[in-house]
Amino acid sequence: MIDAAELDRLRAQFVDELARAGSDRDIQTLRDKYLSRKQGVIAGLMKSVASAPPEERPRLGGLANTFKQEIEDKLAERRAAVDAGRPPAGSVDITLPGRTLAIGHRHPVTILRERVESIFVRMGYQVIDGPEVEDDYHNFEALNIPAEHPARDMQDTLYLGAPLGSGTLLRTHTSGMQIRYMETHQPPVRIIAPGKVYRRDNLDPSHTPMFHQIEGLVVGEDVTMADLKGTLVGFLRQLFSADTQVLFRPTFFPYTEPSADIFIGCLLCGGSGCPVCKKTGWLEVLGSGMVHPAVFEAVGYDSERYTGFAFGVGIERLALLMYGVDDIRAFYENDLRFLQQFPS
Ligand code: DAH
Repeated sequence: MIDAAELDRLRAQFVDELARAGSDRDIQTLRDKYLSRKQGVIAGLMKSVASAPPEERPRLGGLANTFKQEIEDKLAERRAAVDAGRPPAGSVDITLPGRTLAIGHRHPVTILRERVESIFVRMGYQVIDGPEVEDDYHNFEALNIPAEHPARDMQDTLYLGAPLGSGTLLRTHTSGMQIRYMETHQPPVRIIAPGKVYRRDNLDPSHTPMFHQIEGLVVGEDVTMADLKGTLVGFLRQLFSADTQVLFRPTFFPYTEPSADIFIGCLLCGGSGCPVCKKTGWLEVLGSGMVHPAVFEAVGYDSERYTGFAFGVGIERLALLMYGVDDIRAFYENDLRFLQQFPS
């Protein structure tokens, strides 16, 4: 026997099945299930109307017909929606805002490395790569760093293997790449060598035992200090801004003569003096100099014929200054709230 409760149950079942009908084929299957003349749900209902007491038949027949019309309308509506590629009514709230997908992005150290690389690549430099496990010869000796030089001190250098000091170490700077490149290539040379370097430093706001540097080397027949200056001023003005002030100050590196530390006008105070620039108005960003003849001799270049300049820059240091971060450890704590702030 059909009654109103049974019709409600069938209606709910149909609505549920309809919501899950995602294709023309699903809709056809539903149509067959409900409207097929012989076995359809509606056909079954009509039969039970026929066997109801005569005085009930008109009302029950009316209910069954209404239900049938409802099914036809909803199937047609659903088919139109499927054809238009819309989700079933009621299954998705299309007014909800979309969810932002958490996609990864580049680390600030990578962002800066790539920016520096692209500036030098545009100036015709080649980017080269080399080993982090280095030997004493390439890290120190060929760079004119004598045995008693403080840079070799076990306090600074992470030696590998036993006995300690046997000559294998984690490179303390990327300068050894100058030697490796010149050993296998003749001038002219125009390279940069980015990579990780290691030092026996304890973690503090300005030290991590691993950090990144980019080494640069240019060698040719008439390379002068003016080329060094023009190149590095141009580089810094592209990286920071066109009106960046640049200061060269004489210093000492065993592998360059003369040598210069390079500073930019403080990005924070603009030169008037603040805690970041330690009240000097200047921030140190690069070490540089004209390649020492002893270095050319170590790689078999004719130091009478060739001259060159070299430079080294710390990538984390550039990132600290560029983004105004005051603790280098933040780059290695992998706190997504920190890392997500860098536009890549
Ligand atoms: N190797 C130096 C350092 O680790 C950086 C450096 C200074 C590299 C002067 C150079 C250079 O090539 O000429 O601090």
